[in-house]
Amino acid sequence: MGWGCGGGLAGIVGILGRRAVLGLVAGGLAGRVVGGAASGASGAGRARVPPPFSVPMAVPVEARPVRSTRDADHYRLVAAPAVAEILPGVRTPVLAYNGAFPGPTIRARAGRRVVVEHVNHLGEPTTVHLHGGEVSPEDDGGPMDLVEPGRGRRYHYANGQRAATLWYHDHAHHLESEHVYRGLAGAYLLHDECEVGLGLPSGRFDVPIVLRDARFGDDGSLVYIPEDFRGRNTILVNGRPQPYFRVAARKYRFRVLNAANMRFFKVELSTGDHFLQIATDRGLMRAPLTTTSVPLSPGERADIVVDFSRYAPGQRVVLRDGFSTRPSTDGILRFDVCGRVRDCSRVPERLAILPALRPATADREFRLSMDKKTGMGFINGRAYDSGRIDFTVERGAVETWRIVNENQVIQHNFHVHLADFRVLDRNGGPPMPTEDGLKDTVMVRPGESVGVRVAFHPAYTGDYIYHCHIVDHSAMGMMGQFRIAGRG
Ligand code: C2O
Ligand code: CU
Ligand code: CU
Repeated sequence: MGWGCGGGLAGIVGILGRRAVLGLVAGGLAGRVVGGAASGASGAGRARVPPPFSVPMAVPVEARPVRSTRDADHYRLVAAPAVAEILPGVRTPVLAYNGAFPGPTIRARAGRRVVVEHVNHLGEPTTVHLHGGEVSPEDDGGPMDLVEPGRGRRYHYANGQRAATLWYHDHAHHLESEHVYRGLAGAYLLHDECEVGLGLPSGRFDVPIVLRDARFGDDGSLVYIPEDFRGRNTILVNGRPQPYFRVAARKYRFRVLNAANMRFFKVELSTGDHFLQIATDRGLMRAPLTTTSVPLSPGERADIVVDFSRYAPGQRVVLRDGFSTRPSTDGILRFDVCGRVRDCSRVPERLAILPALRPATADREFRLSMDKKTGMGFINGRAYDSGRIDFTVERGAVETWRIVNENQVIQHNFHVHLADFRVLDRNGGPPMPTEDGLKDTVMVRPGESVGVRVAFHPAYTGDYIYHCHIVDHSAMGMMGQFRIAGRG
């Protein structure tokens, strides 16, 4: 097998030389697009979800800059209806960026700006938000900052932050839930010098794992019903149903992103073996965490390193979902271990220095609730109103926020734009070890109360939002807006 050394020097060259080879190195086309505009799904007979682990996983295509200047890479993302082959032999209408389901991966480098020229051919308004990005309010793709059908606009990303697994997705208010469900989401991987210097698995051994669930109609179409958690019984990895992935017997870095509308995943290996978690939402952890599972609510990311060299060639190891209560949805992805290869990558004992926890100058409370009867979502008893500023913070402020899930059965989580935070406590007890790092999204289970220390980037002022990232909930009002005051 032609597996080279993916770490060390090869890794650095892989990053620096990537612009030259972008788009050529991807291991396959995620959810291969097989046609033009969406008409209907393939009508012939009943579309069947294949048995688990019978289709190969795809690595999402990498976006290729349309133009690069001394300090910026320009991309063009066209959002439009497309047809994807998600189930084998079945044409499924989706909404896609550049025809890819999920959207193409953008690889960015700290210090180099990214400009995304976004074109809307959806026939409905849209916005594109860079989740986890430290960007100005104008470039944040907020829920009311709509790009009308037939129009386009540019989003500017400074990439002034540390290396992290970010993602971009639709955020048009009330439409985001269905738009994300139908495919408008993709990974945005930000690299920096410190991270590259560590020698972590890189290049084709650094693989996005975009998780979500879906419900397919008999005709192979994606069925969208709000709050349809029970109906969404097919697990997709990078746009493929419960695929298998051939791996070399060496270390891999997986960027696990929960891009589902509602489903929480707890990734673990079927063998019960340990693996390493190396990053949370907003970048590398202080040190690798040895763990057997990582829970992720929608919007959360975890980078993990799995070393397949401990398995004999031919062994199969399933990445499974420890939260699943059904055999049909508990297998996410099967790793088929192939030949042993030389592996120069490593996972150092120290990964990053996290900024010191600074004292807070304000305390706030956010009570999340959902009215079961109307399906309306509230934060502190109020539904989102774009004309209302819920509170104002000082530029560059550090605050302690307490997030409370008032529902006794319904799961929520919490995401804030621009800022990052550290989890301080869960119900007064310690946070989970898997969330001990920089975060921007945190799970808040029924009845739970979570304390976080939020730090706002001093460079930005203006209006941003926060919301439950169960997008079926934010679409129904579980969202608020704050203003960062100070001379801009
Ligand atoms: Cu992932 Cu407000 O978004
Ligand atoms: Cu966000
Ligand atoms: Cu919620």
